[in-house]
Amino acid sequence: MQANDLLHLAEQFGSPLYVYDAEKIQSQYNRLTKAFSKVANLRINYAMKALSNVAILQLLRDLGSGLDTVSIQEVLLGLHAGYAPEKIFYTPNGVSLEEIEEVHALGVQINIDNLSILEQFGAKHPHVPVCIRINPHVMAGGNANISVGHIDSKFGISVHQLPHLVRIVENTNMNIVGIHMHTGSDILDIEVFLYAAEILFDAAKNFKNLEFLDFGSGFKVPYKKDDIATDIDELGKKLSKRFNAFCVEYGKDLTLIFEPGKFLVSEAGFFLAKVNVVKQTTSTVFAGIDSGFNHLIRPMLYGSSHYIENISNPKGKERFYSVVGYICETDTFATNRRIAEIKEGDILSFRNAGAYCFSMSSNYNSRYKPAEVLWMNGQGYLIRAHEKFEDLLQNQIPLPVETAATV
Ligand SMILES: Cc1ncc(COP(=O)(O)O)c(C=O)c1O
Repeated sequence: MQANDLLHLAEQFGSPLYVYDAEKIQSQYNRLTKAFSKVANLRINYAMKALSNVAILQLLRDLGSGLDTVSIQEVLLGLHAGYAPEKIFYTPNGVSLEEIEEVHALGVQINIDNLSILEQFGAKHPHVPVCIRINPHVMAGGNANISVGHIDSKFGISVHQLPHLVRIVENTNMNIVGIHMHTGSDILDIEVFLYAAEILFDAAKNFKNLEFLDFGSGFKVPYKKDDIATDIDELGKKLSKRFNAFCVEYGKDLTLIFEPGKFLVSEAGFFLAKVNVVKQTTSTVFAGIDSGFNHLIRPMLYGSSHYIENISNPKGKERFYSVVGYICETDTFATNRRIAEIKEGDILSFRNAGAYCFSMSSNYNSRYKPAEVLWMNGQGYLIRAHEKFEDLLQNQIPLPVETAATV
């Protein structure tokens, strides 16, 4: 997408605005499937927590993707978007037995990540095909918040608990059809993937009826020009070879599953916001935009760095700005960033705004959530309208007048 297209979309649909480039999502999907084309049975389950707009789900469904979900609400959205139940995986953590049973009743593959629920589920439903999430105890991922496969992480069943796990499976006669792991996000080093894969292969040997191995996700994408990223082609080559060899050893053509979020949608997304005020203080020049961590929380939550361009003045002389929001908390998007000269009214574009951006947005400070637009075949399609005042009131129930008067 060109900066000019983004500028026109901001004029057409207003700001703040999320824009997603359909072609980029498609090319990322194709890159991944091509990298693993030597695996006979490959399945990509899009991790919809990254961006759950129904139009995006439909786009990925049409590309052939399955869906990775973490809540019954995500499962319902997936079904609503037209995914067959057997194309949906459910990998929750810390949810109740009742929710897992409800999801199973919808015909969706469940993945259990703790021994307590596994034992209870197995005792009640011994013949249901179940996947188990292993914690391989690998320190992987961009930072401590997004590294989820290490020894202190709440996720998965420790590999050291395999003997206990196997006993539960034998005692309940459960049908274990898959093993899963997900060690974190922003994993750069493919050796980490390969190392964790060996742990999964070892664990898999304990189960005779497997149909698939799910390697999770965590591929690192570039955040700026010349930034480093996971070498998908190299990983594809090495892991495919090792996976195919494991299938021979296991005596069955298993399905290899990945569940990427960021890889598929991060770079496809742009967040557009208007500069309300340029404020020069004694130490800093602030560009204050019509947004805040209510719309894009990742820089404050994870310290993630989104490349920011002034698309209203792309050729302007660069100056240093701190880009901040309008929320009554510190909501700094960038500190002392070199950006083409900014005037009030200019539109700033934030890159890598496809994953974990809109899906983490809120109504904090009673602000409306932004609209979302899908850019496809040179045209912008509104896929979510800007919120209105009525949206803030939806589901709120005022006290009856006479009760309010007695407080
Ligand atoms: C279980 C699981 N699978 C897949 C993903 C997607 O990870 P990424 O967006 O890094 O591809 C996540 C992210 O939190 C996850 O928790």
